[in-house]
Amino acid sequence: MKIAVIGTGYVGLVTGAVLAHLGNNVICVDQDQAKLRLIASGKSPIYEPGLEEILQRTITEGLLTVSNSIQDAVKVSEIVFIAVGTPPAADGSPDMSAVKTVASEIAKGIHHFTVIVNKSTVPVGSGDLVANIITELGVKRTQFEVVSNPEFLREGSAVRDTMEPDRIVIGASSPEAAQPLIDLYRPLDRPILITDVNSAELIKYASNSFLAMKISFINAMSILCEECGANIADVSKGIGSDSRIGPAFLQAGLGWGGSCFPKDVTGLLATAKQMGYHFELLQSVWDINQQQTHRFLDRLSKELGGFKEKTIGLLGLAFKPNTDDIRDAKSLTIIDRIFKEGGSIRAYDPAASQHVLKLYSQLDIKTSPYAVAEGADALILVTEWNEFKQMDLARLAKVMKNPLLFDGRRVYDPELAQRAGFRYFTIGLKGSP
Ligand code: UDX
Repeated sequence: MKIAVIGTGYVGLVTGAVLAHLGNNVICVDQDQAKLRLIASGKSPIYEPGLEEILQRTITEGLLTVSNSIQDAVKVSEIVFIAVGTPPAADGSPDMSAVKTVASEIAKGIHHFTVIVNKSTVPVGSGDLVANIITELGVKRTQFEVVSNPEFLREGSAVRDTMEPDRIVIGASSPEAAQPLIDLYRPLDRPILITDVNSAELIKYASNSFLAMKISFINAMSILCEECGANIADVSKGIGSDSRIGPAFLQAGLGWGGSCFPKDVTGLLATAKQMGYHFELLQSVWDINQQQTHRFLDRLSKELGGFKEKTIGLLGLAFKPNTDDIRDAKSLTIIDRIFKEGGSIRAYDPAASQHVLKLYSQLDIKTSPYAVAEGADALILVTEWNEFKQMDLARLAKVMKNPLLFDGRRVYDPELAQRAGFRYFTIGLKGSP
């Protein structure tokens, strides 16, 4: 099939690459010329395992091309994916301006029957919004369909998630409107759920909010564990073994961040508010997440007698491992507070350091965990990269001024850390340091 994908962020680029990999002719559209040049040369502008290999192969085979003209791409395509950003506006609701601009451009390019797919995370009613923009520009309603096809890929495993999704959700106004996407996704051989457009739009927000709720729940339980001497790892295993609950997303830690959870939780809160419902449960999910990192820092600050003139080492800056993404990363909350309270920071991350340096030029970026530890008053494990799981803890402890390890992701065995010479504190465990 002939496909246009508008927007080459995480969702757009991975979708475009995977669809080309399946044998479709895909045009990836973006207004950022430098990014397009990079993609056309077979290089990925984002750090995503497996993506570059697919880009190189599909570009060489002529299946994937790039363009900066939405109209040109739409003219030759049967299916047009909208995959542009919907960042939160000041009131938490998604900013739809990029989607609206793209819809107007699509309208100008429609020359034959076209299926337009909302792949961006957009609030309920966006299908109608896009359709109205297009008809207002003179395109007959019989010439196009707008379908919702939310994306559930995770950063770091985006290619695999797109090739092997748990389910494919297609929200369409009629079976005929859904058919082109059913045909497109058939080679993946995954379960397909057909719904109306509004339900599909809501499924995306509900999925991410539910997952965020699981994490906030286990983080709230971790507070109780610290108070009463229980172990959150066992509690998590115990409840996760119930097949009705499931073990995923029950890892207690510093809280959730990234490009989706924060934006989708506030997005759903805003939608609920517009509909006159005060979604108290979801508000608590948000509040618990905000408090979690600060509780951890309160504990560290108490241990150090405040951050003033203290040197804190950060292991990890990305919002999670295997990505260089720092959007809503917990590292930023930590850096902000320590700097505000007069401390200094040195940090190491295998992929994200340069992005954080752009925000905090006073950050002392190091090239190894051991250089971070050298002379530091405390170490915080912020992101659970594999590299940090295999460190020589005794060597780390030895070079520190004060061998204090605050493990924000519950990576280390407390006994081993103590044996290595650390005073060790982690989330959801009573006692230490
Ligand atoms: C998420 C959704 O999983 C994905 O379906 C959606 O399309 C986009 O948002 P992503 O943001 O890439 O994906 O990361 P994910 O692996 O889901 O982690 C999100 C955050 O939750 C991270 O900050 C992670 O550290 C945190 N997390 C995750 C926990 O704190 N505990 C867990 O048990 C799982």
